[in-house]
Amino acid sequence: IGFFFPRQHTLAVIKPDAAEEQKGFIISHQKETILSKEVAEEFYTEHKERPFFDQLVQFISSAPCVLLVLSKENAVEDWRAAMGPTDPDKAKETSPDLLRARFGSDILHNAVHGSSSEEQAHREIQLMFGDQSSEQVTSSEGEMAG
Ligand code: PPS
Repeated sequence: IGFFFPRQHTLAVIKPDAAEEQKGFIISHQKETILSKEVAEEFYTEHKERPFFDQLVQFISSAPCVLLVLSKENAVEDWRAAMGPTDPDKAKETSPDLLRARFGSDILHNAVHGSSSEEQAHREIQLMFGDQSSEQVTSSEGEMAG
């Protein structure tokens, strides 16, 4: 913090009501991190043959991301429903309340990611949180991918 001398600071708190139970999602685990290029490539490995793969990797590793393990019944599908279509313009056509409609700019800068299946969720959680003890990742949930 001392490095950013001219800046002012403020403390923002995401209070328990917002942090812990939004639309039934519980944040089981979270961290803020800058992904390395290598981790980003692994994260997006299912898209490695697509023409925009390098852009995807470059963008997600360009600055800090907040990574969350969100837990609830049907979490994979329900989180994707909350985000809306990959392209924010399409999300806006669907509903202005969708996360990508509210916070996304274009199909690359689309604000949020959600695993595409339970299998992918397992893989992505292992990749992002696997270096921590399963106890930490399991948190209050009592179960964890892996
Ligand atoms: S999904 O979830 O796999 O069905 O989504 P998909 O539409 O296949 O997109 C996967 C990720 O690729 C990004 N994307 C693009 N980036 C740049 N240019 C183009 N044309 C493009 N199309 C898709 C998109 O941001 C998705 O990233 P995530 O992190 O999954 O949202």
